[in-house]
Amino acid sequence: MKNGPAPYDKQAASYDRAWRRYIARTLGFLKATISFRSSDKILDIACGTGEFERLILREHPDQQVIGIDISENMLNFARGKCSPYPNAAFLKADASALPFPDQTFDLVVSANSLHYFDKPSISLAEMRRVLLPAGSLVILDWCKDYLVCRCFDFCFRRIERGYQSCYTQRELQRLLDAAGFAIQSTRKIKLGSIFWGHIIAVATPKA
Ligand SMILES: C[S@@+](CC[C@H](N)C(=O)[O-])C[C@H]1O[C@@H](n2cnc3c(N)ncnc32)[C@H](O)[C@@H]1O
Repeated sequence: MKNGPAPYDKQAASYDRAWRRYIARTLGFLKATISFRSSDKILDIACGTGEFERLILREHPDQQVIGIDISENMLNFARGKCSPYPNAAFLKADASALPFPDQTFDLVVSANSLHYFDKPSISLAEMRRVLLPAGSLVILDWCKDYLVCRCFDFCFRRIERGYQSCYTQRELQRLLDAAGFAIQSTRKIKLGSIFWGHIIAVATPKA
């Protein structure tokens, strides 16, 4: 982890308000896509303010959910929101160095965040490492196959602190394969905006 404030530290207080509709659409879609059992341990990589956890926990208050993020300020909002739930935990950690033993989680998710990871290959390999052999990974992020995402990618690389890159469907499939995942599905989707496009990928650890 780099020294100094994380890029999202400053935005933490306004994040939920500023991105309310975007968060509701994307995380609502993610929640509707995943399936899990009450005994499953879920890890959310780059959990931000814990909105995904809140969505899960208000329907499944005893679910074991851990969120990690590099921004302590974002995590503090997540901790506040999820304080009523005994099995929710939030840790400061980098996606490229997960502080968990091998084969810990049944489900690993990451939403709206892969484009910030400076070591995407290592981060995905870490997700593979902490997943149980029968576990699943679900990644939801911007998709560079859409023109508007390509334009934002071009600009954000130059102006947005912390931004790294978004990926085409093909690039994400290659990254997942190289990290040791068998791809179950990848799908490009529009979540509300006519132009903006996401990709959702579901993968399992290769045997
Ligand atoms: C756009 S926010 C998404 C937050 C949440 N997943 C959501 O959908 O609302 C991106 C998050 O990624 C986190 N982040 C960026 N790089 C990271 C890294 N290398 N490891 C862990 N978290 C990271 C940021 O701190 C920020 O909270």
